[in-house]
Amino acid sequence: MFSFFKKKDAPLKNTYGSIMVDMHSHVLPGIDDGAQNPEESVILIKKMMELGIKKIVATPHVMADYYKNTAETIGNALKILKTELEKQNIDIEVEAAAEHYFDETFETRVNNHKLMTMGDNYALFEFSFISQPPNVIEVIQRMKDLGYKPILAHPERYPYLDIEQLRNLRDWGCALQLNTISLTGYYGKDAKKMAESLVDNELVDFISSDMHHLRHAQAFKNALRLPYVERLLKDYPLKNIMLK
Ligand SMILES: [Fe+2]
Repeated sequence: MFSFFKKKDAPLKNTYGSIMVDMHSHVLPGIDDGAQNPEESVILIKKMMELGIKKIVATPHVMADYYKNTAETIGNALKILKTELEKQNIDIEVEAAAEHYFDETFETRVNNHKLMTMGDNYALFEFSFISQPPNVIEVIQRMKDLGYKPILAHPERYPYLDIEQLRNLRDWGCALQLNTISLTGYYGKDAKKMAESLVDNELVDFISSDMHHLRHAQAFKNALRLPYVERLLKDYPLKNIMLK
């Protein structure tokens, strides 16, 4: 039948309601490359709520050089955000953890029990987009020995890792978190292909927005129209719900 709607404007059939929790986002104000002030935070959070998200775990970057966040800077930004949400009568649960960068300081943070975690001691970390860091398996094993549950952020975005290496990391006990918008092609063809391959091979443990700004919000919405995302939201053993 002829439709008056352009495809991108057609009403959405799906929401993220079934996963409930978005566990990777940069919505805390002013402490990394995500929301720069409480007003921007609220705009992004409202977009997530419109798409069915019930709880948000904010995960600011923790790096040795660019974003030197600590439990204190993150805790303060969370307080500022919560005050703004209350002021605007927006009712959503927001928690904070971190996205730790696997740089030369990461192993020390692990050994000093300094990771900021979510749920039952899940610790989110990311690699360089350029080259594979050394000692990955050793550090993952050390994290597990200390009681952390490691989660690798956006495994589909590291061009130097193939599907077998990712499967191997997962077999070592590292959960994999897909950026949902990778499936739209937001980060390019290669990341999209790897994202699809991870879904097809049932290697995805968590999905999330990795929300920094409004372009991500739009892609997060567009993703809801994809058959791959529909599959993830319906019959896929995702663990997001364990963080509620
Ligand atoms: Fe991120």
